[in-house]
Amino acid sequence: MKHRLNTTFIFVFGALGGMLFGFDTGIISGASPLIEKDFHLGAAQTGFITSSVLIGSMIGALVIGGLSDKYGRRKLLIVSAILFLLGSGLSATAIGFLPMVLARILLGLAVGAASALTPAYLAELAPKERRGSLSTLFQLMVTFGILLAYVSNLAFLNHNLLGFRDWRWMLASALIPSALLLIGGILLPESPRYLAKLGHTEEAYQVLLAIQKDDAAASQELNDITRVASEESHTGSATELFTVARPAIIAAIGIMLFQQLVGINSVIYFLPQVFIKGFGFPEDQAIWVSVGIGIVNFASTIIATIYMDRFARKTVLIFGSVVMAVSLFVLAAINFFGDVSHAAIPTMVLIGIYILGFAVSWGPLAWVMIGEIFPLSVRGIGTSIGSAANWIGNFIVSQFFLMLLAAFHNNVGGPFAIFAVFALLSIPFVIRFVPETKGHSLEEIEEELTAHARK
Ligand code: BGC
Repeated sequence: MKHRLNTTFIFVFGALGGMLFGFDTGIISGASPLIEKDFHLGAAQTGFITSSVLIGSMIGALVIGGLSDKYGRRKLLIVSAILFLLGSGLSATAIGFLPMVLARILLGLAVGAASALTPAYLAELAPKERRGSLSTLFQLMVTFGILLAYVSNLAFLNHNLLGFRDWRWMLASALIPSALLLIGGILLPESPRYLAKLGHTEEAYQVLLAIQKDDAAASQELNDITRVASEESHTGSATELFTVARPAIIAAIGIMLFQQLVGINSVIYFLPQVFIKGFGFPEDQAIWVSVGIGIVNFASTIIATIYMDRFARKTVLIFGSVVMAVSLFVLAAINFFGDVSHAAIPTMVLIGIYILGFAVSWGPLAWVMIGEIFPLSVRGIGTSIGSAANWIGNFIVSQFFLMLLAAFHNNVGGPFAIFAVFALLSIPFVIRFVPETKGHSLEEIEEELTAHARK
């Protein structure tokens, strides 16, 4: 790289895929009731418009990994930016149910691709001492995207500018970050680890130099990368993933499933409905509740970005699980045994604490760690599978949450007690199956993993 890129630029643009992830999953909470009315849809069809993105994401996440091991992280970031542009444009201009679902699936492909590519890309670029914080930028962008989506929902609601319906503007606003991601993709450097794997050592060195800003550190890192890559007797095949990298795949799938099964998206996608159905809130007030949650989520993630490299990852995960389990159990108890007509405010406060617990721990760390724990030869495909597990978990929670709520006669205590149980179960899982990665270089993590697998 002849012109040195500013590191902030690299990491912020590198993480932009996260913002679109957040935006495209968050926007639909406000847009879907409007689309439902405009297209005269039934509840099942509206639900499908919401979940079609998740279906696309599962596929996108699965497909992208093998491709990114083959063609590089950067080229595929560009492909996903193009998919984001197409999907955003087509969904904003869709003229009926089917075109909308197709556009949302296309968007999902992009979201899934970005969710698998970005964590690996950021982890591969970041110096090890700051890898936790820099990789947390992905989640910061996700939460920023969600907040932006809520704000865009509020801002465009009932404003049919230039003769176009409000929801079309809500969906079209994703075009701006998509275009930025495309520009970023064109300007960003390729991952140094991917370059080294191909034998482009000089190019890899130039990228490391731009990030490390110190010749000695860059050379040292390059040596480590090439040494470990040359020791890899394996080829990046699926067999390797399930033999040498088996502990990593178990950890990744488990982390990702738990990240969803603690129920975060019941809050992110459906909180207004919870307050409308559970506590009889009027619709316009309920939208403000979600903006509040969006702010707590984003602000707590800023704290995570600052502190991520100070504490062991496993300690942070367990801390988050305890905060979530306790707040959800208390919430459930209040709603089950207390007077529901007085439970709205305590429920709101407890949900705030729960979101904080998630946002400083499992939110960022799930994505940080899938970028870290796989050996280079299978990192793309490994993050793909981990990310797909996340989308499957997300789909399960999103599909069943409202049904579960109805099954408990709209008492939020029911579903939240179930999520609390998952938060508790995540603790022994972390202790037993999750490796500690803080402060270790990706190469050290790989060496420990392979040594462990050979035992
Ligand atoms: C999760 C998303 C969730 C978001 C909330 C992410 O880490 O993967 O499903 O909506 O956090 O901030």
